[in-house]
Amino acid sequence: MHLGVNIDHIAILREARRINDPDPLQALGVCARAGADQITIHLREDRRHMHDEDAVAIVRHSPLPVNLECAVAPEIIDIVCTLRPARATIVPEKREEVTTEGGLAVTGDRPDLEHAIARLHEQEIDVSLFIDPTREAIEAAHGLGAEWIEFHTGHYANLYAMLHTNLARTHHTIPQLELTRRELKEQLQHELETLRSLSVYAAELGLHVAAGHGLNYQNVTPIVEIETIEELNIGQSIIARSVFDGLERAVREIKHLISEK
Ligand code: PXP
Repeated sequence: MHLGVNIDHIAILREARRINDPDPLQALGVCARAGADQITIHLREDRRHMHDEDAVAIVRHSPLPVNLECAVAPEIIDIVCTLRPARATIVPEKREEVTTEGGLAVTGDRPDLEHAIARLHEQEIDVSLFIDPTREAIEAAHGLGAEWIEFHTGHYANLYAMLHTNLARTHHTIPQLELTRRELKEQLQHELETLRSLSVYAAELGLHVAAGHGLNYQNVTPIVEIETIEELNIGQSIIARSVFDGLERAVREIKHLISEK
């Protein structure tokens, strides 16, 4: 299974100070050396983390194929068409959201999506649609001519966290919190089975299948067992882990500099 590393969170940290450190560009070589297969970034309409210059530099300099997540908005599609990354993943975008909250509405009449996909294909950019794992969404994505679908695994990740972590005691806005442990276990199994059977269905239609959102070092293993999922895009948990993996060395190095005086 391939790994796409979403490096948006490096830009989020940079934006906290509005300076140029840490520079997401520096992550490219590190991710490549560590065995990643793809770099994933999201150029949001509000540019809250990645900026246009980041996207330009990352697509130009990445040693790995770049998967550029974007909204269907024409001005963003213009930029993606100019940059010509290996793949564009069209995601739903709401300004007020903290992160991408659900899959794209692909069913029904979507001339905007058809137009965006045609424009991306003209530039030989593979298209992926970030969808909730439903049969209707897969069929719609197939009908729209996408090469890839990416299943939103947020629901799976939430159920997993409620069952295996203390999220249930800290998070009061999730309706499933009223469920018993047995019901949670059943729902988690059901969600996994849905991801498995629908990825088989999508692959039979000729679609490549990716998955992502909320995947981490605890919950990723059952997903990896689904052979028809070819790729996972993971961001938050990798960057969160890297803070602690790197903190000790970072403190030692600055302490060393300070102690010399
Ligand atoms: N895939 C898509 C399409 C996303 O929008 C995101 C979140 O930016 C991810 C994967 C990665 O999710 P996370 O940061 O929770 O690992």
